[in-house]
Amino acid sequence: MADPVANQVDLSVDFCGVKFKNPFLLSSSPVSNSAEMVEKAFEAGWSGVVFKTLNSDRLPIIHPSPRMHCVHYGSKKEMAVQNVEQISDRPLKHNLMEFRYLKKNYPDYPIIASIMGFFEDEWVYLAQVAEDNGADMLELNFSCPHMCIEGAGHKVGQAFHLLERFTAAVKKKVSIPVIAKMTPNITDMNEPALYAKNGGADAISAINTVRGISEVGLDDWVPRPSVFGKGAISGTSGPAVKPIGLNFISSMAQCKDLGLPLSGIGGIETWIDALEYMLLGASTIQVTTGIMHYGYRIVADMIEGLSDYMVQRDIHRVTDLVGKALPNLHETDQFELDRQGITEYDLDRCIGCGQCLVVCNDAAGQALDWDSETRRPHLIEDKCLSCMLCSFVCPVPGLISFKEMPRDWHRQETAVKDPGLEKKLKYKPFTKEAPNECIA
Ligand SMILES: Cc1cc2nc3c(=O)[nH]c(=O)nc-3n(C[C@H](O)[C@H](O)[C@H](O)COP(=O)(O)O)c2cc1C
Repeated sequence: MADPVANQVDLSVDFCGVKFKNPFLLSSSPVSNSAEMVEKAFEAGWSGVVFKTLNSDRLPIIHPSPRMHCVHYGSKKEMAVQNVEQISDRPLKHNLMEFRYLKKNYPDYPIIASIMGFFEDEWVYLAQVAEDNGADMLELNFSCPHMCIEGAGHKVGQAFHLLERFTAAVKKKVSIPVIAKMTPNITDMNEPALYAKNGGADAISAINTVRGISEVGLDDWVPRPSVFGKGAISGTSGPAVKPIGLNFISSMAQCKDLGLPLSGIGGIETWIDALEYMLLGASTIQVTTGIMHYGYRIVADMIEGLSDYMVQRDIHRVTDLVGKALPNLHETDQFELDRQGITEYDLDRCIGCGQCLVVCNDAAGQALDWDSETRRPHLIEDKCLSCMLCSFVCPVPGLISFKEMPRDWHRQETAVKDPGLEKKLKYKPFTKEAPNECIA
């Protein structure tokens, strides 16, 4: 694909020594299920593929039917996708033949083979046949969320010693780089990522789908998707999971002991989503649900949007963006609490809908007076909590903004309804020194 703006910038990425034309890859899922699909994606502009997780043919794979459910939120379609899909149901031989086809016809587009075994020998076998048939890298699927069997999918991702063992077993037998794909169904991803590193992983990818239930049928009381009347906790993906993905990627990027390249996944639909992942430490990006909604063509917008952004900011290499937001990411105890602000209203643009008044009254500081003649709010500055709720519900973009106040400015304390009741209070202020005496 020729793109004049993209030619002014360098979108190429070296990920563990493997060269990608741009950071945008298909993640392992139905969007990367066959060579026929993948070649369409390459033609559209995707730079590489993590092929649908290979199955060793030891067990037959039968997908539940139906296998997906989507939650729409307001006018936003596919806000969350729920899936109970298994790993590839295609014969291993067919998938490997397709690796060979893609390598022959698209030699500059790296193939990452996603594998998942149930025990060590199976992991090693899949890794070796994938390498022998042209895979440029491996992605170890430690994260499939619907596995009921101990020692498989996300159960391995949660059993760190197994994750390390399987990574080490694979690394011993292959020479291509190995990525460990992590489950988000834990609280801290740095720990399993360090185990993967100990096992020899060259990179980490995250996230796989988040275990959840996104909808329950109100007529039949079955969690969706309803597989002939039965529901299950299963994998959630799409825009709803992006904050979870950004959390894990940024923590791993900040983990000094880890220091591995990261591939960001989860809810990426636009160049802006992708850039946010990069600014928080990901050097490649993987997408499934965005493609399940809009098709492979979204990559053209991703390339154009990211390139325009770079040209405007005079940034030549996309790799220079990786991790740029990390110095601004702190623990909350680092906030300067002596700096406070309030909202500021550009009333010339106000349309008088009153949404700000509703939320300020019912969920914030009751800091607005309302002139019913003109249908305009008036801000009582020292009651404003700076929660910014009014700005989020205001239909006019940019009408309500944040303004810092001088350091000697103080917010009014929320009024007590009946100060006369103070005398009847059964209460003394809590002290660490005499905790029991606080209860009158
Ligand atoms: C229907 C479906 C099937 C998936 N199958 C796999 C799989 O076989 N192997 C794997 O590692 N991840 C699989 N995933 C997870 C995705 O690769 C990705 O990690 C996840 O969906 C989050 O990204 P997204 O929000 O862009 O979809 C699947 C996701 C979906 C929605």
